[in-house]
Amino acid sequence: MSSAPDFDPLSPAMLEDPYPVYADLQERHPIFWDEKVGAWVVTRYDDCREILMDSELFVRDPRRVSEVSSESGESIQVIDVKAQAELRRLVIGSIHAQDLEQIGRRVRASIDHIFEGVVSRPSFDWMMEVSARLAGTITADFLGVTEPDPQVFKTIVEGMARKFDADLAEHDPEAELRVREAFGTLIDGWLGSPETHGTMLTLKNQAEALGVPLPVTKNLIGLLFIGSFGTIFASSGSFAFLVMQRPDLFEQLRDPALLGTGIEEFLRFDGPTQATSRIVRRTTEIRGVTIKQGDPILLVLAAANRDPAQFPRPQELLLDRTPNKHLGFGWGPHSCLGSLFGQLALRELTGALHDAPGPLRLTGTPFRLPTGTVRSFASLPVTFQP
Ligand code: HEM
Repeated sequence: MSSAPDFDPLSPAMLEDPYPVYADLQERHPIFWDEKVGAWVVTRYDDCREILMDSELFVRDPRRVSEVSSESGESIQVIDVKAQAELRRLVIGSIHAQDLEQIGRRVRASIDHIFEGVVSRPSFDWMMEVSARLAGTITADFLGVTEPDPQVFKTIVEGMARKFDADLAEHDPEAELRVREAFGTLIDGWLGSPETHGTMLTLKNQAEALGVPLPVTKNLIGLLFIGSFGTIFASSGSFAFLVMQRPDLFEQLRDPALLGTGIEEFLRFDGPTQATSRIVRRTTEIRGVTIKQGDPILLVLAAANRDPAQFPRPQELLLDRTPNKHLGFGWGPHSCLGSLFGQLALRELTGALHDAPGPLRLTGTPFRLPTGTVRSFASLPVTFQP
């Protein structure tokens, strides 16, 4: 077992800028056991990608390493292979049934509307006023549900982000219960509402027809909600921050030829999903290190995305980077189902920011969410005023 380096994803320095630490780990400790995280930590691109690809050996489903999981804990992320493939097909089918161009127009109109409300203000919180509302609009549109208060969305997503951090942070059982209840109420309300349409209705009906148990369907809906709201919330904040830090790059994004590759590159460079996890189904070896059956592994995707062995000049944001096989949307059997929507959100946001009456600028100190697996601002005070 390699000796444990100093790795604290929740330290203020790591929340601010984890990338120097990732680079050091990658070079000197590509795999190590971390007591605090309670998992093997893997940082190199090849290792992360191989693990993501092999969903037989590296599983999300604790049942497959003989731990018991209740039905309400089952979702597309924890059930693997056959059952997961069926659910994925359902979701992919309902995504393909949507008109992305039309959704893009609706999203742009809603960003313009959000901007109208804040454009003359001397200061506003981008995360609450823009990111949360944008993420709420796209998520509700994609799911086919009525949009609840962004604050409700934000509370649930922040609670879930802390849950994904598992043992990294201290648990607050009461707060966790409140978040679970709020989430359950939201999903039950959507499932019972006659206004529900689109993906949510398709999933509900088809999952029923396929005999998928209701708790599994609910968890899938929950996962879509978190996957969508949480990542769009986080990425639109980091993107706005980058726009203010690098106005030169932002200007270049006016070139339609750079927009697509530029957004992919942003997601490689500073995407919202820092890490994900797997459990080893049978004792195996990675880089000569023995990983025992049942051991958890933390795959630091954000570190892999800056691996010099895969990405030339990894610490630079190159808008025309091609190829760019980053792991910001995962890879393999569990890769992201909503990547098109994530890209669409950033594309429309870029257009709206280009057309805004003034450049965005900081008016105060930004704060980051104290979460290790999701990289996001909690608040980002800004203005469009000179
Ligand atoms: C910029 C935006 C987004 C980013 C960076 C992102 C990132 C990711 C990543 C890294 C994974 C893989 C997790 C793993 O392998 O453990 C993932 C999975 C997933 N994402 Fe996204 N995501 C984004 C947007 C979305 C949206 C908009 C939706 C829903 C509409 C969504 C739904 C999902 C689902 C359902 C999964 C699980 C798939 C499975 O386990 O089979 N994501 N996402």
